[in-house]
Order: sequence, then C-alpha cells, then structure tokens
Amino acid sequence: MKIVVFTGAGVSAESGLGTFRDSDGLWEKYRVEDVCTHEAWLRNPELCVSFYNARRRDTLAAKPNAAHLAIAKLQKAVAGTRVITQNVDDLHERAGSTDVVHLHGELMKLRSSIDETDTVPCLGDQHYGDRHPDGSLLRPYIVFFGEGVPYFPLACEIAAEADVLVVVGTSLNVYPAASLLQYAPGNAKIYVIDPGHPEMGYYRDRITFIQEKASVGVPQLVEQLIQQAGGK
Ligand code: APR
Repeated sequence: MKIVVFTGAGVSAESGLGTFRDSDGLWEKYRVEDVCTHEAWLRNPELCVSFYNARRRDTLAAKPNAAHLAIAKLQKAVAGTRVITQNVDDLHERAGSTDVVHLHGELMKLRSSIDETDTVPCLGDQHYGDRHPDGSLLRPYIVFFGEGVPYFPLACEIAAEADVLVVVGTSLNVYPAASLLQYAPGNAKIYVIDPGHPEMGYYRDRITFIQEKASVGVPQLVEQLIQQAGGK
C-alpha cells in the first residue's frame, strides 16, 4: 500500500510555529509583499533576510509534535511511504522522517541566487551579503510567491502512485501545491486532517475529513493505516 503524506503549516502549529492564514497567522503580522515575493527580495533583501532569520530561530527553538512523530512512525512501518510538505521547517526530519520533499524550500538552507536548487546549510542567522561558492549572493532557500516550484513535478509523480493520500494542516489555498490532490489516482483514498475548514472544493465527496488537530487526528489515523498495511 503506497501512502503519501502531504502537510502544511497546521502540522507544526502545535509545535508553536505560526500558520499563515489563521486569525493569528504570519500574514496577519507581515505583508506577503514585503517579505515573501520575488519583488520583495529585489526591493528589500535585508528585510527578507531578517524575516527568515526570525523564523529560523523560532524553528530551532521548536520541537516536533505527536503528528510529526506519528508520520515518521508511519514511514518506518509501511515501506515506500513518502512525505511531501509545504513547510520550510525541519520538524519532519527532526521527528525521524526521511526523504521529505519540501515544495516551498527549507529554512535551514540558503541558496545560490542563480541556481534555485544549489544550497548550503544555514543553522543560524544569515548575514546579508555573504556569497555562495558560485559567487552569487546567498538568499533564503524559500520559494517566494511569483517563483517556480522546482520540486512540484516530483511531488506530482509521487502523488500519482498513491493508494492513500493523507493531507494534514493545509488550507489548500496556495497553488500549485494545493493541486496535488488532483494528481492522486481516482481510486486513491484521501484523508484530510484539520480542525478548521480547508478548501476541499469538488474533492469534498471523495475526502474522509477528520476535523481534529494534527496531534490528535494523525496518530489515530497512522495506527489505522499501519494495521491496514499489516505493519507493526
Ligand atoms: N492541526 C492541524 N491543522 C491545523 C492546526 C492544527 N493544530 N491549526 C491550524 N490548522 C490548519 C488551519 O485550519 C489551516 O487549514 O492549518 C491550515 C493552515 O493553513 P495556512 O496558514 O494557509 O498554511 P498552508 O496551507 O501551509 O499555506 C500554504 O502558503 O504562504 C504560503 O508558502 C506558504 O507554504 C505556505 C503556503
């Protein structure tokens, strides 16, 4: 049984990391146009760098929660389980998940300004002006609005092989990431775990909606899937 887990900011909410569009979300405090668009990077790179330095510090201070740990347990128990995330934190990896596909980049890396996938580690504050070995200015390894999503084709290939797609903690508002559900086969079982009201659109009738917080809904579903797959 091929299981694919697709997560958004909600899976890290109980680790204390803000979501984007909830009432107290990041986009209530910062304008996307100032810190998370290609134009913002060109217009005010230092503000972008300090915004992501603050989010990196928050991530370093956060810990994986029961949902991250359950997803890592699922990967170990059911061979071939893949994790695709919109999140830029490393909580899936710190919980033990492997081979995680980050659609929107990673806070713990910086990238070349000329090659979008050529990265270097960054475990503290970035100092604006530092250069990549290729000579270009280093920048946050974040897919800004208006930029390409280099790993989206890979994510579609993975979703296209899913027997089960588990969607956790995403409003399904941002494309192309949200369109991943369309790439799951017609007979795939789709679960959505979210205490709110994500945009399930015309998928609604195909989806098993578990209206719970991730730390409650994910461990319960993981146990059920491990049983179904005959894992331990
Ligand atoms: N458990 C599970 N889900 C939760 C929890 C929780 N404890 N708390 C909130 N949520 C849900 C919300 O109900 C909402 O559906 O998490 C979702 C968060 O939605 P968004 O804030 O829109 O985050 P996300 O869907 O990941 O945003 C996608 O937008 O700004 C860009 O690049 C950014 O990757 C991000 C993308």
